[in-house]
Amino acid sequence: MKEVVISGIGAYVPSNIVTNEDLSAIVDTSDEWILDRTGIKERRISTGEDTSNIATKAAILAIERSGVQKEDLELIIVATITPDMCTPSVACMVQKELGAKGATAFDINAACSGFIYAIQIAESMMKIHGFKNALIIGAETLSKIIDWKDRGTCVLFGDGGGAVVLTESNTKGIINTFSKSDGSKYESLVAAAFDVENPYALNVVKRNNKVQMKGGEVFKFATAAIVEAVKEVLLNTDCNLEDVKYIVPHQANLRIIDYAAKKLNVDKEKFYVNLDRFGNTSSASIPIALNEMYEKGMLKAKDKIVLVGFGGGLTFGSVLIEWK
Ligand code: COA
Repeated sequence: MKEVVISGIGAYVPSNIVTNEDLSAIVDTSDEWILDRTGIKERRISTGEDTSNIATKAAILAIERSGVQKEDLELIIVATITPDMCTPSVACMVQKELGAKGATAFDINAACSGFIYAIQIAESMMKIHGFKNALIIGAETLSKIIDWKDRGTCVLFGDGGGAVVLTESNTKGIINTFSKSDGSKYESLVAAAFDVENPYALNVVKRNNKVQMKGGEVFKFATAAIVEAVKEVLLNTDCNLEDVKYIVPHQANLRIIDYAAKKLNVDKEKFYVNLDRFGNTSSASIPIALNEMYEKGMLKAKDKIVLVGFGGGLTFGSVLIEWK
């Protein structure tokens, strides 16, 4: 069975920067509170681009850098909780924009773990079903589902997208993957989809389709999830935590990352952090961070890297990769 490597990476964020000071003009908050409790200083908020636009821009860069022709993409998976439409999928819209006619395209929803789940699915489809080149995107316009009157959530999130091209190879790239969910706690983080408004229903059910979160519960889950996911993905591999050069966590809250570093007994420097500039971009945060590391020249051949995500569902997961 062939191996799967990351052959290209790209990201795109809207140019509009919204600072903590900007937010303190619309809700009762302050730069000091947000920075102290989360580590976030600013985030990018779309001024009109939807998820498919952001996803396409990230994808174009990843494809260019991969050397793969768009006609040779056989699989497109977009991880998102903020699609443009219920149908078609964002993946099909991206497929049209790219002209990647030969691909199977679909979306998945695993909230902030979406990029990790999508990599796991793609790797399996490539290894089992023989797809040779896959485009994996995490993209969000969370600004669409934020309650801009709720200071407990609106300060946390941002918009953006990141993408990788996965290509079959004779050398190892994706070494191992891990995923797990705990649906029993789904109420900790919700954003409803539709109002129930059919002529057979007894009453119209109006739902709150903005993000509602029990921050403390999610915090507790997230700290345990990172630790479990990092340990699990290293199990049954010949790689241990000391061999891992970087951990690229979902960028939700600096305190979550600090806590995980302490629990895992690893240097905080091993964790790549850029949430200060982008906030929590859900499924996009890991590929945006990895792309930044790539652009800074931080990623060298043979580096072992753990990607780790956690979020709504509740979901969590991790990927162990060797950079090509
Ligand atoms: N500005 C100022 N005050 C705020 C505030 C804001 N933006 N948001 C909440 N507060 C207030 C609360 O109203 C509360 O006030 P009270 O004590 O008068 O009731 C106080 O700050 C403490 O609130 P609390 O929710 O306990 O704060 P916290 O330290 O737990 O931080 C989060 C809140 C949301 C930052 C934190 O719980 C968190 O990060 N959770 C995980 C969220 C997450 O990562 N979600 C995505 C997962 S993918």
